[in-house]
Amino acid sequence: MTKKHPPPQDQFANKSQAWSARFTEPVSDLVKRYTASVQFDQRMAMQDIAGSLAHAEMLAHVGVITDQDWREIEQGLHRIKDEIASGQFQWSIDLEDVHLNIEKRLVELVGEAGKRLHTGRSRNDQVATDIRLWLREQIDLIGEQLQALRLSLAQQALTHASTIMPGFTHLQVAQPVTFGHHLLAYEQMFGRDSERLADCRRRVNRLPLGAAALAGTTFPIDRQRVAQTLGFEGLCENSLDAVSDRDFAIEFCAASALIMMHISRLSEELVLWMSPRVGFVTLADRFCTGSSIMPQKKNPDVPELARGKTGRVNGHLMALLTLMKAQPLAYNKDNQEDKEGLFDTADTVRDTLTLFADMLGALTVHAQPMRQAAQQGFATATDLADYLVKKGLAFRDAHEIVAHAVLTCEQRNCDLSDLSLAELKAFDDRIEADIHDVLTLEGSVNARNHIGATAPEQVKAAATAIIASLAHKG
Ligand code: ARG
Repeated sequence: MTKKHPPPQDQFANKSQAWSARFTEPVSDLVKRYTASVQFDQRMAMQDIAGSLAHAEMLAHVGVITDQDWREIEQGLHRIKDEIASGQFQWSIDLEDVHLNIEKRLVELVGEAGKRLHTGRSRNDQVATDIRLWLREQIDLIGEQLQALRLSLAQQALTHASTIMPGFTHLQVAQPVTFGHHLLAYEQMFGRDSERLADCRRRVNRLPLGAAALAGTTFPIDRQRVAQTLGFEGLCENSLDAVSDRDFAIEFCAASALIMMHISRLSEELVLWMSPRVGFVTLADRFCTGSSIMPQKKNPDVPELARGKTGRVNGHLMALLTLMKAQPLAYNKDNQEDKEGLFDTADTVRDTLTLFADMLGALTVHAQPMRQAAQQGFATATDLADYLVKKGLAFRDAHEIVAHAVLTCEQRNCDLSDLSLAELKAFDDRIEADIHDVLTLEGSVNARNHIGATAPEQVKAAATAIIASLAHKG
């Protein structure tokens, strides 16, 4: 008597057992909810389909599936794409994740050919591929937004190349600077952020597919072909590493945390500058809200919230680092926890950068209060010391003499520039009539005229060069 094999069971027939016939007991509703990711990973549906298309095309090319199978898979996946785009696709938590949901629908649509799609592949290399495709797109979007923000900053810098404000150290008036120079400091920070993202992109843009579950596959696959179809620059060259490490996502979160750290610094300044006690700038109304009780209030909500959201982005970085820590090779389900934080990081950074580019372009700058503030606090004291050095004094001695002059002014409640030549000469008789040009705010900023310094001439040149290079990139 020949032993009869049971007919192959439809993997998707019993909805609570999406994986195989191996299971004898369904999971509880809570376990289902706890282990499912489709609620959030359906965001990667288009990447999942792109990955499946590339994989199936390659399987047909190397002869693992027939051309007929490939044509049916292709048609089915395109149809699914349309269903998802039009909101008709029925997502089911019973099918755990985006991958199984799409595969099940494909089998429904095209039958046998659909069941062959998963040949030589695992959800482990599939999900790693999807995340990388998704993240690559986000990096490109964020890259463009960083450029827009830098352009906004550089344009304002050009407009305000000669607008004088107090420069601070320890939040005490230090030396006069130009507002344009101050803005270009942020442009530099966001420029480095762009470089960091571009660098991170190179490591994101490598193909894990082909690693299968962990060890590779017995089928004669062509990984280079899939990489080329999907626009990857290279392959993940060890299958165990390919399916398990998420360092590329952590790198992105670290680069994002740095972006938000820079945003939070700028936010802090905007909030401070917008305070009526300072009054350096006004934010356009569309970035502010009022108070439900105090009718006079106009609160700088957008920078305040951006400052606050820096915390959540830092949190996602910590979460991912902790998620990855001490995971043994190769894939572990822990990694499913990588997505929500990663998605939220990209969303937060994108929204923030979009708002900031617009908000800085629409900034109203109040030159008069800035100037007044620069006139207080002896901002030109260093200029007086430098003047004395040029007359032959050692800097430390000059420093001491100026400290005495500042003390006198403080007692008289006046500025250094209010002292007469005779009064100044009493501190050191090398001081001549030309000192009064040195002690003006314009004299002070104009004198710092070298690359990287605050002179209007330098700021104009720097802003112009930045605008030209960004226009060239855009
Ligand atoms: N939803 C899973 C994730 O996000 C996909 C990979 C699951 N693989 C597995 N063997 N359970 O990581």
